[in-house]
Amino acid sequence: RLSDAFENAADTDFSVDTNVDWIRGPVDAVREAEAVKVPLQVSGIFRDGTSRGESNDPSRPEKVVCDFAQASWEEAMEAIETAQGARDQWNARTLEQRAEILLEVAAKLERQRASAIVAMVREAGKAVLEADSEVSEAVDFANYYARSLMAGGWFDGTRFEPCGPVVIAPPWNFPFAIPCGGVLAALAAGTSVILKPAPQAVLCAWTMVEALWNAGVPREVLQFLPCADGPVARDLITDPRIGAVILTGGYDTAVRFLDWKPELPLLAETSGVNAMIISAAADPDLAVKDLVYSAFRHGGQKCSAASLAILEAELYDDPSFMAKLRDAASSLTVGGSWNYASVVTPLIRPPEEALKRGLTELDQGESWLLEPKPVDGNPQLWSPGIRLGVKPDGWFRACECFGPTLGLIRAKDIAHAIQIQNQSDFGLTGGIHSLDADEIAQWEAAVEVGNAYINRPITGAIVNRQPFGGWKKSCFGPGAKAGGPNYVAQFGKWEDADEPQ
Ligand code: SER
Repeated sequence: RLSDAFENAADTDFSVDTNVDWIRGPVDAVREAEAVKVPLQVSGIFRDGTSRGESNDPSRPEKVVCDFAQASWEEAMEAIETAQGARDQWNARTLEQRAEILLEVAAKLERQRASAIVAMVREAGKAVLEADSEVSEAVDFANYYARSLMAGGWFDGTRFEPCGPVVIAPPWNFPFAIPCGGVLAALAAGTSVILKPAPQAVLCAWTMVEALWNAGVPREVLQFLPCADGPVARDLITDPRIGAVILTGGYDTAVRFLDWKPELPLLAETSGVNAMIISAAADPDLAVKDLVYSAFRHGGQKCSAASLAILEAELYDDPSFMAKLRDAASSLTVGGSWNYASVVTPLIRPPEEALKRGLTELDQGESWLLEPKPVDGNPQLWSPGIRLGVKPDGWFRACECFGPTLGLIRAKDIAHAIQIQNQSDFGLTGGIHSLDADEIAQWEAAVEVGNAYINRPITGAIVNRQPFGGWKKSCFGPGAKAGGPNYVAQFGKWEDADEPQ
């Protein structure tokens, strides 16, 4: 199986009735279910922890979805010690043995696609379609990293020494695929992992690690350690026995980690403040479709989401284009993840933690093209908002706006639009819509983002085709991209090499 070429997993085709029935059953079955109790797992043993945490259903914030154990300081230290021994045992296996387990993980995740979707609908407020593509991405990571072990010759004849145990601190917005990708890449390299799931999405991470254990990943090699932010998390992350810390999260969190320990081996993909340029030479209908998709799906909570559109003056001043954009955004179905028609789904965090910060920046703009409103009495559910005349300066420095809001900026021409886009301190994703080859070439040569997309949405990177990662303040560490050829190799060194490559 390893010799087969890598192929991306297919998303489920929900235009087929039997596929709709396939997911409707398991989703509907847990809608009113009791909260799931989730233990932590240290040294192969499931434990109740010394304190408990809760996660909620963003579609009905009063409903508790998961009641999880949180590790004590002693348990965190024990996990590190266990991970050290487990790393040596795991690394003693051959590449083929590890790769075979990763392929088994891919098969297992595929077989458990429905339960993964259910967890994300329940706990992350994800629409079924979005959750389904997240499972595909996780399957892709398993198949891809299994092959990266064998491909390219970079392990051939040269000894690769993996780093010490890896701590993985994933985000809540891709609560299944991102932790899965980080874990599998570290395992592929031959080291062990302590996963500290995002507290908002512990059930999603738990569903993922169970699949990995069932596929043959030893429990000591992958320990599951929810813990409260504070001294336990700090001492886990900064422990000298830890070989690398993988963070996908806010810029401020990465800075906090480095304040704790400046020499921390941190590999982080941090905040995105992402813009799409729309040229007067774009296909306007396609541009509107891709912009609305990028800005508002998953409630605008993807790190790759568009929070700004920079429009060439001719389009910005064209009332028919603006009407098209407003109508496209206002016609999206806003609703909870239990409603199969929902496109704009709820905020996973209370709005004062997410949306308000972005709205403050939007307030500096001129007026609303479409005013965002809370929906259905759920403070976490907001309809799309589009603000005209946003000022790039504050916006690009402020923050990631995790909400369904979009600012619009008028640019004199494409050169001006590129200049505005590059003013950002951040550089995760960015896009251009244009049918003019010269403009596209000009943009490609100049744009300062990790993932640059032409005439397509700026979210939804596909493993192998669009390895994912940022530049500038969106990246800490050497910047190997997830789902790309160098990602596994960052978890160690070759013999005679001084630095990870
Ligand atoms: N990989 C996701 C995307 O491309 C973001 O993490 O949308």
